[in-house]
Amino acid sequence: MARIHISWVILVTQILVSVIVTQVGAKVPAIIVFGDSSVDAGNNNAIPTIARSNFQPYGRDFSGGKATGRFSNGRIPTDFISEAFGLKPAIPAYLDPSYNISDFATGVTFASAATGYDNATSSVLSVIPLWKQLEYYKEYQQKLKSYLGNSLASQRISEALHMMSLGTNDFLENYYTIPGRQSQFTVQQYQDFLVGIAGNFIKHLYGLGARKISLGGLPPMGCLPLERTTNFMGGNECMDKYNIVALEFNGKLKNLATNLNNELPGISLVFSDPYYIFMQIIRSPSQYGFEVSSVACCATGMFEMGYACNRNNLFTCTDANRYVFWDSFHPTEKTNHIIAEYVVKNVLAQFL
Ligand SMILES: *[C@@H]1O[C@H](CO)[C@@H](O)[C@H](O)[C@H]1NC(C)=O
Ligand SMILES: *[C@@H]1O[C@H](CO)[C@@H](O)[C@H](O)[C@H]1NC(C)=O
Repeated sequence: MARIHISWVILVTQILVSVIVTQVGAKVPAIIVFGDSSVDAGNNNAIPTIARSNFQPYGRDFSGGKATGRFSNGRIPTDFISEAFGLKPAIPAYLDPSYNISDFATGVTFASAATGYDNATSSVLSVIPLWKQLEYYKEYQQKLKSYLGNSLASQRISEALHMMSLGTNDFLENYYTIPGRQSQFTVQQYQDFLVGIAGNFIKHLYGLGARKISLGGLPPMGCLPLERTTNFMGGNECMDKYNIVALEFNGKLKNLATNLNNELPGISLVFSDPYYIFMQIIRSPSQYGFEVSSVACCATGMFEMGYACNRNNLFTCTDANRYVFWDSFHPTEKTNHIIAEYVVKNVLAQFL
């Protein structure tokens, strides 16, 4: 009798827990994204820049084989994260004219390939600077208010997960490539300069009502195939120098998250670190079902991306799932999926 009683208690408890989890699960009603090509779904198609990917073979494994402007053969991490939260399987780009506020109400990306925290980075290829992404976000909030009404819109914003993913271009496209910032800052000072911009951006989001925010860290950027290609002296191994910068910068972003959590009442700011899982995939590709991690699928795999990675190139691999990298700067859909799952399980689960 006592046993039966206990098992009933356990059953009822389990039902209650699952009801509570379901209710909390419904609490991320939208995912709102800021950043660079790691999370751009096609905003650059709407602006005059060469930082584009809205042509084959990009998107060849995307739904309908469509080259949306995502820098991959298929979906990007935020698409998988959206799906994991029970939202749509792909987050649309704000500037894509085939979507409107009824789509954006559950997810939208303002990201722009080739941008960075630093205004000087977005200027290199004339893409959308971070401050402009914030202006678009304000416009989005106005549209959301007309669509849902003021009070529902404010609730939607405070419950939505806001995600930031950028910074690689500040170092690789800007600091180490074009003159300017290197004469002004040591790399450590430049990291601090960028962290200052990140902090201000988060405070602006908070001021606009955002409460759940994920601050994304840098990948092991010295292992991107393009960087390996330039490492002639080091036998095309990863560029340790860039990986060290990524680790230093990530450490500073993590501290920023800790500080802002203490400073801003009601904020839940998490640091989403892709570095170690990504490094593990690169170091032991076969453990994750890959065959190649040193060069990319597209073209020679050594330096092509954007327009240089096009359908006329006969060297492009036939099965992207064998490769960690799709082009010389961006992961394949399969890698994006593994990293997204890892981040959901280890960091974002608290919002599920
Ligand atoms: C959005 O687009 C859909 C289909 O294209 C249309 O039915 C709907 O009325 C539009 N909604 C708004 C709010 O403009
Ligand atoms: C970037 O440019 C915008 C617009 O000109 C400006 O408001 C902002 O202060 C600049 N950011 C930095 C860190 O200089």
